Amino acid sequence: MLALEASLLRKGGTAAQLQKAYSAWFKEHKSELPPLDNYKYIDLGGIYAGSRSVHNPGKEGYRYDVLHPETGKPCKQPLMGYRFPEGTMTDLLNEKRILFGDDHTKLIELKIYLRDYRRKLSSVVTLDGRAGPNELKAIFGDESKVFNNPKPIGLLQELLSFVTSPGDIVLDFFAGSGTTAQAVMSLNKEDEGNRRFILVSSTEATHETPDKNLCRDVCAERVRRVITGYTNSKGEPVTGLGGGFAYLRCRRIPAATVFRGIQHAQIWTALQLIHDVALSPYQAALPMQTAQGKRSVVIYLPKVSDAILEALQTAIQGAGQAVVYSWQPALLAQRLTDPRASFEAIPAFLVNRFGARSGAKGGRP
Ligand SMILES: C[S@@+](CC[C@H](N)C(=O)[O-])C[C@H]1O[C@@H](n2cnc3c(N)ncnc32)[C@H](O)[C@@H]1O
Repeated sequence: MLALEASLLRKGGTAAQLQKAYSAWFKEHKSELPPLDNYKYIDLGGIYAGSRSVHNPGKEGYRYDVLHPETGKPCKQPLMGYRFPEGTMTDLLNEKRILFGDDHTKLIELKIYLRDYRRKLSSVVTLDGRAGPNELKAIFGDESKVFNNPKPIGLLQELLSFVTSPGDIVLDFFAGSGTTAQAVMSLNKEDEGNRRFILVSSTEATHETPDKNLCRDVCAERVRRVITGYTNSKGEPVTGLGGGFAYLRCRRIPAATVFRGIQHAQIWTALQLIHDVALSPYQAALPMQTAQGKRSVVIYLPKVSDAILEALQTAIQGAGQAVVYSWQPALLAQRLTDPRASFEAIPAFLVNRFGARSGAKGGRP
């Protein structure tokens, strides 16, 4: 159609002549044109369709008169008024983007040019958007208000049916109200599968609601009720789907606890050997170990603190180029955006050999 448009516009002529030629072609090819079969007009700007997008959807919009160019009378207004303020409408009229009907009794439309057409990826799953909240309400009654916008079980169950096999483990790291667990259990019931789930969720506690624990009170509680059965919000008993789960809590471990037990001296020696620099002994009293290599300074940071970051910045400035090894390379890269330094993790084989080991004296708890 765009090729036809270009050829018609090249031939020239008035808008009326263009429309006559285009209408003849359009009539002949209409059956082949969907989804572009509403692009039945052409003017000197190109092929276009009329769109009701000037009409305000849902609630009351802008009210003003738009005069019909031939009858001079105000055009019939859309039910909810116009979508744009009057100034925008004036611009659209000046740009000749407004399409008028035969007279003022017809609603006006916006010209949408073919060159601006973009295909839409239609939804492939059709579901009632209220299903998720209703399903949660069936389990929790009015308490269900504690979680906004839970997904419908059917949606997750359908997606899981495509991407999992009956023995798989499904991980949902942002579990919210726990819909994924219910969908897994429900799918298992349907196909006699043995899928398991791991759900992770935050408490959603804030300064204002420090005692909130969405994970414990909504997510885990939902899983518990779905497993053991419950009485729904209509007072009807719902049989449990069976199975079981463990509820585990994570807490932040102070970095110092994790790093205790690491054999820093051996790691420092190995790093120097990797970089082929003259060996210097590990000096526990220093915040960082440094050794001059051929092209750059090799630095090892046993631990990170604000004071050490400052000292590191100074060392990098003095060095020109630095390779900095630490246990928190991502944190360093975030805090010191210095192109002269590369922030490396301790190589895995050194972590395995000299890192903290559980059970070791002073090692990981
Ligand atoms: C969009 S909701 C998930 C909705 C869920 N699919 C359902 O149907 O209930 C995302 C959830 O992730 C949780 N969340 C946000 N940040 C998190 C984090 N860092 N770790 C774990 N969970 C997190 C939020 O508490 C929220 O409940």
